Amino acid sequence: MIESILPPGVASSEAFDDAAPAPLFPSEAALMASRRARRRRQFATARTCARRCLADLGHAPAPLLPGPGGAPAWPSGVVGSITHCDGYRGAVADHRARTSALGIDAEPAGPLPTGVLGLITSPAERAHLAALAEADPATPWERLFFSAKEAVYKAWYPATGTWLGFRQATVTLSPAGTFTCVLHPPPTAAPANPHYEGRWLSTPTLVLTAVHREGG
Ligand SMILES: CC(C)(COP(=O)(O)OP(=O)(O)OC[C@H]1O[C@@H](n2cnc3c(N)ncnc32)[C@H](O)[C@@H]1OP(=O)(O)O)[C@@H](O)C(=O)NCCC(=O)NCCS
Repeated sequence: MIESILPPGVASSEAFDDAAPAPLFPSEAALMASRRARRRRQFATARTCARRCLADLGHAPAPLLPGPGGAPAWPSGVVGSITHCDGYRGAVADHRARTSALGIDAEPAGPLPTGVLGLITSPAERAHLAALAEADPATPWERLFFSAKEAVYKAWYPATGTWLGFRQATVTLSPAGTFTCVLHPPPTAAPANPHYEGRWLSTPTLVLTAVHREGG
């Protein structure tokens, strides 16, 4: 499913349950030892997906431990992203020479919890969402909006090491299945292109977003 919102050639793998998690590397197992069973299963299935992506790119299986800020530490020369939510685990990766930034996010379809929208949007973004909802009430625009910002953050953070709040990003969703995002990073952030482009997908149970930037 996720490959439909990624450029051809980007490796991707997904699972809709935890039926076939690969064994963890000892360093990964140690990290998960004290975590709840649900988190351990989610982590392991996402690692299975990530290692399939690595195999597609010609890389041997490797541990994927969280680095600074929680971003997964992919092998040298690889850029990638991981997501999990109820009913979905996924990973994407590509050679850094071909792709400079990748971020994916999955969320359950449906409304955001009460009060969240006001925390993650500006008044202009809320007006944009209201217009989208009026034209197409069946699409969970608010959830897509949240997911798009998370996907952007996962593409942004590994390149900069800089935290960004939801109000430091302006997202514009297109009904055609694309979105743009302009970041307003703090002046102290490492210089980085603040414009991101992505694609989205909505099913009856899930929303998926992906941000991709070419490398080189
Ligand atoms: C980090 C964050 C984006 C993760 O999203 P989430 O919906 O909670 O969880 P998901 O399951 O989709 O993603 C979790 C995976 O994201 C990855 N991740 C975590 N922190 C990350 C970071 N700083 N950069 C890139 N990827 C990160 C990890 O691979 C993690 O899975 P793992 O722990 O099994 O390795 C979210 O928790 C967060 O902190 N958001 C606030 C910042 C933000 O989104 N700002 C928006 C401004 S653009």
